[in-house]
Amino acid sequence: MKKLFLIPLMLLATLVFTSACSEDDPIQDGQEQVTPEEDDGEEGNEGNNEEGGNMEGGNGRYLVLYCSRTGNTERMAQTIQSTLDCDMIVVEPETPYEDDYNAMLDWAQAELDAIEQGNYPAITTSVESFDEYDIVFIGYPIWYSHIATPMQAFLHNHADLLAGKRIALFANSGSSGIGTSERDAATLVPDAVFEESLLLTSSTLGNMATRIPEWLESLGASREEPDAPDAASLNINIIVDEQTITTTMEDNGAARDFLSRLPLEVTLEDYNNGTEKIFYPDPALSLDDTPRGCEPKAGDITIYEPWGNIAIFCRDWSESSSLIKIGHIDGDGISLLQGTESVNVRFERQ
Ligand SMILES: Cc1cc2nc3c(=O)[nH]c(=O)nc-3n(C[C@H](O)[C@H](O)[C@H](O)COP(=O)(O)O)c2cc1C
Repeated sequence: MKKLFLIPLMLLATLVFTSACSEDDPIQDGQEQVTPEEDDGEEGNEGNNEEGGNMEGGNGRYLVLYCSRTGNTERMAQTIQSTLDCDMIVVEPETPYEDDYNAMLDWAQAELDAIEQGNYPAITTSVESFDEYDIVFIGYPIWYSHIATPMQAFLHNHADLLAGKRIALFANSGSSGIGTSERDAATLVPDAVFEESLLLTSSTLGNMATRIPEWLESLGASREEPDAPDAASLNINIIVDEQTITTTMEDNGAARDFLSRLPLEVTLEDYNNGTEKIFYPDPALSLDDTPRGCEPKAGDITIYEPWGNIAIFCRDWSESSSLIKIGHIDGDGISLLQGTESVNVRFERQ
């Protein structure tokens, strides 16, 4: 993992940068002067001593991807990661960054020129799938107003996998804006859905501790898991010949045990000449916390306690203390199960 490279005196860094930029100023298109790249946001690191690099979080809904040469973007990435408790991956160039700043400017300019010709630099990072993530956070330093080249290469290599994903860009610069790099991203991953971006510069990096949580909140990203399933989600669907029968389930122990076994494919057999469709769950359903006795109506889903079978009533029947109701088929859905034939069905959660 690359470590922060610090030059203790801001004045020294300013002088180094100024001399480096006099003729070959990296700032084009009327950009303001780049402030010293080294140590320009040290205050933003207060209270955040975590290591960067690859991390797996407890909240699997978000991924933070970043590249960073001197650690500023990395600190932003760490703050996003620790706020959301999510996964984080660092994107590294195959050819290491130059330590010397002037050499670094040449290195970056050469790679940007190559990218303009369609030749993306080699990187050592790849991701197989983004399927599990709601939002992918993409962080980079601004180089000559553009996305730093390792991240351009990453986006280029993963454009197909990122199609349709929500992407939130975050960037760090001396003073330049983020607009050109946003256009880079839209060109590299044209089918992604871009959220509002966040730029911190050398003069605003110190506000990271408030700016990042505010930004995450505006995106609706939080470390909270989605609400626990409510009572409605106890309900199940029964699929018959590609048609869906909906049900309303009871809130009792046997219904919850049945729900925990789904999805389930079974053959429902006729019982009593078109009165019931039955099958035998294996093992039998738990009857804890489940009231006994019912007078079945057509569409009722029940358990016959002495045999342990599930019985779906196709017509009204007489009351029995051995019958336990666990749900009811909505509307006239029972018509799809009526008759004396066996029926293959799939039970699944709604
Ligand atoms: C090759 C190169 C080009 C840069 N170009 C710009 C620029 O166009 N505008 C700007 O404001 N800062 C520019 N910078 C400064 C960096 O964006 C800034 O130092 C940033 O904080 C570096 O982030 P990092 O610590 O994550 O590497 C450039 C730095 C380098 C190394």
